[in-house]
Amino acid sequence: MDTVAAADIVARLKSVVGPKGVVETADAEPYFEERRGRYRGAAMVVLRPASTDEVAKLVAICAEARLPIYPQGGNTGLSGGAVAAKNGALINLGRMNRIRALDALNFTITAEAGCILAELQRAAEAADRLFPLSLGAEGSCQIGGNLSTNAGGINVLRYGNTRELALGLEVVLPDGRVWNGLRGLRKSNTGYDLKQLFIGAEGTLGIITAATLKLFPRPREIETALLGLKRVEDVMELFARARTASGDQLTGFELIPRIGIDNVLEHGEGFREPLAAKHPWYALLEISSSRTGAQLRQALEELLEAAMAADLVQDGIIAESEAQRRELWRIRAALAEQQDKLGGSIKHDVSVPISRVAEFIVKACKAVSERLPGIRPYPFGHVGDGNIHFNLTQPPGADKAVYLKRWAEFNRIVHDIVVSLGGSISAEHGIGLVRRDELAHYAQPLELETMRRVKAALDPGGIMNPGKVL
Ligand code: FAD
Ligand code: LAC
Ligand code: ZN
Repeated sequence: MDTVAAADIVARLKSVVGPKGVVETADAEPYFEERRGRYRGAAMVVLRPASTDEVAKLVAICAEARLPIYPQGGNTGLSGGAVAAKNGALINLGRMNRIRALDALNFTITAEAGCILAELQRAAEAADRLFPLSLGAEGSCQIGGNLSTNAGGINVLRYGNTRELALGLEVVLPDGRVWNGLRGLRKSNTGYDLKQLFIGAEGTLGIITAATLKLFPRPREIETALLGLKRVEDVMELFARARTASGDQLTGFELIPRIGIDNVLEHGEGFREPLAAKHPWYALLEISSSRTGAQLRQALEELLEAAMAADLVQDGIIAESEAQRRELWRIRAALAEQQDKLGGSIKHDVSVPISRVAEFIVKACKAVSERLPGIRPYPFGHVGDGNIHFNLTQPPGADKAVYLKRWAEFNRIVHDIVVSLGGSISAEHGIGLVRRDELAHYAQPLELETMRRVKAALDPGGIMNPGKVL
């Protein structure tokens, strides 16, 4: 495209959204930043449409001109999916942040894609309902981004991933037409379930502009415990016991390694040693019920007594107040936030069958330590879903840049083990740019071919978030 033609298209795009919807070059930096600093974005123009109609008009202009489109939500993604390039238009959904409807009897909420996750949670709470999706970035990520990455988080065990929470979508297709699939139905078997294509597609098949989502009864009783354990095998044995004993009320089950506690104590603010002694592993578990008088406390105490008698759990605390509960979760959230303070960190976001989590961690720690003595595995996360953030901190004193150059090498070691155990190379963060080559390496040829056919059918011009996922 020559410069004159490009300037003409940019002018047409700008006129669709008006001055409020155009981000001037001087203010564009936050849209180009990439969370982990591995990439730097750019764009011909950064646009912030205010309605589905504006999104549709923008996409139609881009489709006609074959101009790449880079959809962006809160830009908190951890796979580089929202990184734009200078050959195209970055479309940020942040101004589309209205709650369109809340149907308390139907237990549904309909929100625009740019609605911040925490706002959605608050709107549900105000109607005495729960929107259960919860993750560290909830104060800035958007529901459109959550849907596009099929985000997981800390309540998946009980309520499912974002995919399980979505009943209907409104999507602007790559030719600029709007598909209205905003149904609030638990049951509807009417041919292919099209919304599933866009969930987890990381913006490669269309722009999600709104969604109808499931709500749940709000929990009235919550009990949270942090436990110290000797072996990661014990953590997973405890998980099985907790799940069985809790009457299906186990809401979250997170793994915390000692290196994470040490790191948080050293680099975080206002933390103290959580238990009297230090332990190699910790489990943060939460049970909840929407019923009052559910006697969760008693159930939890019985579980812990039995686990301690069996030498599974060494020590533990149960939160005595909401403030203490928050404090325990603050440790968990800080694991990710503070991690890079220890130096270069090579990230993995993997899952294996829950029954193989401990085996994975033991095998993978051994394999990476053999390859690089002194490397510091930092495995944490949602092990109750089989999801491990298996991050690898550089050996103390190593050259960070030299270490990070070995990213692909360590990915291969770890992902080979994951795949041998029947696992996935991306549990919840998605493929984006970071894992695109790994997906190409591990996916079955027929899977890749089918994905490419779907992509070509919906986006024949290849303009939607090009270069991502496939
Ligand atoms: P962005 O980062 O803006 O975009 C993500 C992808 O979705 C990109 O490919 C983008 O092109 C596409 N996209 C965004 N909006 C749309 C749209 N409306 N239509 C089409 N495509 C779109 N993730 C988890 O799953 N679980 C966690 O526990 C978790 N914890 C986190 C904690 C922290 C501190 C941080 C920084 C991130 C965490 N994440 C987690 C990752 C991230 O928050 C999620 O992936 C989130 O869902 C991304 O939402 P976003 O609005 O920021 O999307
Ligand atoms: C977490 C992010 C990294 O679980 O997914 O903290
Ligand atoms: Zn996570």
